[in-house]
Amino acid sequence: MSITAIMNQKGGVGKTTTCINLAAQAALSGRTLMVDADKQSSLSRNFGEADPKTSIYDAFMGRPFEVVNVRKNLDLLPATIDFAGVDLEIQNEFSREMILSKAISKIKGNYEYIFIDCPPDISLVTINALACSDFVILPIKASRFSIDGITIMLDFITKIKNGLNPDISILGLLLTHYDERLKISKHIEKEIKENGWDVALFDTRIRNNTAIENSQFEKKTIFEFDKRCHGTIDYMNLGKEVKRKIRKHNSL
Ligand SMILES: Nc1ncnc2c1ncn2[C@@H]1O[C@H](COP(=O)(O)OP(=O)(O)O)[C@@H](O)[C@H]1O
Ligand SMILES: [Mg+2]
Repeated sequence: MSITAIMNQKGGVGKTTTCINLAAQAALSGRTLMVDADKQSSLSRNFGEADPKTSIYDAFMGRPFEVVNVRKNLDLLPATIDFAGVDLEIQNEFSREMILSKAISKIKGNYEYIFIDCPPDISLVTINALACSDFVILPIKASRFSIDGITIMLDFITKIKNGLNPDISILGLLLTHYDERLKISKHIEKEIKENGWDVALFDTRIRNNTAIENSQFEKKTIFEFDKRCHGTIDYMNLGKEVKRKIRKHNSL
């Protein structure tokens, strides 16, 4: 059993996309849960769960909650818009950083893989997600200011590791929206190397592929949308690489 948070404080870098397709790939070999921890609920809407009976908000409020089965072997703990105010509501709770951890501990034994889609910020919700995770994946979109963001995130994860969750490890940095013909993609790769972060870089890069956007428009995983597109090849490879890295980590 492992819990992996998909985190980046920026929006539009491919967190939700990675959560959808990584979870769909993981579900081919083991029971998998996706946790939508973003009030935008794009992960939930991608599976047609815009108005679920219960949601992650109930989990944070200490109320009973249900997961929804969305595909074979694949469940979802959805988010709804009422989740927007949760940071303030848990502000004065006892162990406010461990609320999600406690809620998930009741169900995590049912799953081989759990993936948490984090919000695009460093909030109490994000801290809750990292506090209960074994691993973090950081999707990095090749753009001008990405590198500054990486330093902030790595420092943040170090703080979590030193404080709330000594067991957390970075599973990898993931280049998304990748286009090797573009200068910016090569530039980001070079900067990652120069900073010594390439040890954590996934071999798999997620290429720019319009099929990815179109699949979400049709509320499908990339595998359901087009079996042969770049997105399918890349997320299939990423899924395998993730499983390899988790196995390797657990055998050390
Ligand atoms: N590799 C890709 N190629 C093309 N479009 C992508 C790719 N990955 C994500 N997208 C699109 O970019 C947008 C932002 O992606 P998303 O996963 O929602 O980011 P985040 O969750 O980090 O905000 C979405 O419209 C998505 O369809
Ligand atoms: Mg998102």
